[in-house]
Amino acid sequence: PRCILIGARVQEGAGRLGCDMGPSAYRAAGLAETLSGLGHDIVDAGDLAPPPPVAAPARAHPNGALRHLPTFAAWTEILAAAAFAASGEGLPIFLGGDHSLSAGTLSGLGCRAAAEGRPLFVLWLDAHADFHTLATTTSGNLHGVPLAYATGMPGFSGYLPAPPAPVDPAHVCLMGTRSLDPAERTAVRAAGVLVHDMRTIDEAGVVAPLRAFLGRVAAAGGRLHVSLDVDFLDPGIAPGVGTTVPGGATFREAHLIMEMLHDSGLVGSLDLVELNPFLDERGRTAHLMVDLAASLMGRRVLDRPTQSN
Ligand code: ARG
Ligand code: MN
Ligand code: MN
Ligand code: MN
Repeated sequence: PRCILIGARVQEGAGRLGCDMGPSAYRAAGLAETLSGLGHDIVDAGDLAPPPPVAAPARAHPNGALRHLPTFAAWTEILAAAAFAASGEGLPIFLGGDHSLSAGTLSGLGCRAAAEGRPLFVLWLDAHADFHTLATTTSGNLHGVPLAYATGMPGFSGYLPAPPAPVDPAHVCLMGTRSLDPAERTAVRAAGVLVHDMRTIDEAGVVAPLRAFLGRVAAAGGRLHVSLDVDFLDPGIAPGVGTTVPGGATFREAHLIMEMLHDSGLVGSLDLVELNPFLDERGRTAHLMVDLAASLMGRRVLDRPTQSN
C-alpha cells in the first residue's frame, strides 16, 4: 500500500516543549528510507501548516487549568481534514507532535470509516488513557484528552467541533496502561473501553489479548487505527518523551505487537506521537520508533506462515 507521511509539529498539548521537533527526528532517523526499503510506495507530504497563533480563547472555559485550548481546537480541525483526505489515498502515518493530535486524526478517520460503511477500531498503545474531558483534567495538558474527545464524551462542545462520526468506545482497546488519573479510571469503565493494563501483559503476554481484539476487528470488517505513544515503551529503551512511566513494554513486546498487526492486514493508519527529541539520547528513541513502524509495515526476520487470529 502507499504510505503517506504527514508531520504535525504540535507541542502545545504536552507539559513541556520539544515535540514540535518530532517529525524532523523521524526523518533524520530514516523513516521514509526504511519503509521504502520494505517495498512500499512512500510519499512524504511534509509538515502540516500550523494554525496561526491565537492570543485569547474565543470562549473562556471554567477549568482554569486548561492550557492552549484554542490552539488545540485549531489543530484538531486541521488534522481531521488531513486524516480524512489522506486515508482516502493510502495509509497515513502521522508524525507527532504530542498526543493531542489524535483528537484530529481520529475525528477524520471516523469520517473516512463512515464513508466506507465500516466501523473504526482503535488500538491505543500508551502508558496513559488520555481519557480526560476538558472538565476533568487537572494538569490542563490537552494531550490527556484526545481519546475522550474522539469517542464523543461530553464537555467538548462549544470549544471544539464535535467529531462527526465519533468512535464507539467499545471499539477501543488500550494496551500498556499503567497511569490513570482517578477521573479517567471511572470514565474508561463507564464508557466500556477495553483496557489491557501492564498487569494483563505481565500475566497473559501481548499475544492472546491482541489476537482477540484483532479477531473482533476482522469479524466486524473494521478499519483499524493504531496510536503509538512513545511512553507505551519502557523508559529504559525509550527515554525521549516527557511523560515517562516505569514498567512499560519491552523491546520484544512492542515489536511482537507490530508484527502481529502487520500479519493481520487490518491497519489503515498510524500515529507516532509524543517523541521529544530534546529529551532523547543520540536519536535512540526516534530510531526505535522507526524500527517499530518497520515491523508494523512488514519487516521480519524470516518468512513464516501467517498466524491466523
Ligand atoms: N493523565 C495525565 C494528564 O492528563 C498524563 C497524560 C499524558 N498523556 C500523554 N499523551 N503523554 O496530565
Ligand atoms: Mn498518550
Ligand atoms: Mn502517554
Ligand atoms: Mn460493534
